[in-house]
Amino acid sequence: MSAATHSSVRKEAAQPDFKTADFNRLARVYRWMEYASFGPWLWWCRCAFLKELTGCRRAVVLGDGDGRFTARLLAANRAIAIDAVDASLAMLRALVHRAGADAGRVRAHCCDARRWQPRAADYDLIVTHFFLDCLTTDAIRALAAGMRSAAAREARWLVSEFAEPESWYGHAVARPIVRLLYRAFGLLTGLGVRELPDHHAALRQAGFALEKKRAWLGGLIVSELWVAADERQTGNGDAGR
Ligand SMILES: C[S@@+](CC[C@H](N)C(=O)[O-])C[C@H]1O[C@@H](n2cnc3c(N)ncnc32)[C@H](O)[C@@H]1O
Repeated sequence: MSAATHSSVRKEAAQPDFKTADFNRLARVYRWMEYASFGPWLWWCRCAFLKELTGCRRAVVLGDGDGRFTARLLAANRAIAIDAVDASLAMLRALVHRAGADAGRVRAHCCDARRWQPRAADYDLIVTHFFLDCLTTDAIRALAAGMRSAAAREARWLVSEFAEPESWYGHAVARPIVRLLYRAFGLLTGLGVRELPDHHAALRQAGFALEKKRAWLGGLIVSELWVAADERQTGNGDAGR
């Protein structure tokens, strides 16, 4: 049976062999925690390439959280339909609520994204905002390979992430902040990951190429637009890390 229906959220059977971070108790306070720690920067980061997504019709948002970006995307693109995947029921309920009158264009899937089976083979947009950092590089590699098979030709993958630039700032400022965030989320959600994965390597190996990138806060947060590339493009002409 489907894990979800349009504008409602149902939970898949538990995966006992698979530990998933639990963000349920953060759902209500998540955005206030974000504003208190990073002000508007994470929001600007998520929306950096929003204008480039007006032609997209079928999207999957992985680790969607409380749905602020999904609501914004639905409002900005009246033709898009979205599969929203998140392991937290409370987050997905907030998402459906936030989608309001547009909730009919959202299908919410409450499950671990590492186990989610894509619902279609023609996604022209994949979105992961501050979600890949909840996974290991190996898990992203497997996820990206699955998404590549489910992606339409020249599908886009929008990524927002934390980063540790190779500079004194990266070592002295960004890395301690990232460590602090991992420690906090480890305590609050049981997240087991403790360092930023190499999502660049994982996405490239799966057949995506980096097209555009913007950075804020000295490179601590980045927004990236990747494109499903044919084999000749993959690994070449990449905009770099
Ligand atoms: C750090 S929050 C980011 C939320 C949102 N994308 C944003 O930009 O604010 C990570 C989200 O991913 C979800 N999550 C973490 N691990 C997951 C997994 N393995 N499968 C599905 N969702 C997961 C959490 O429930 C949470 O909503």
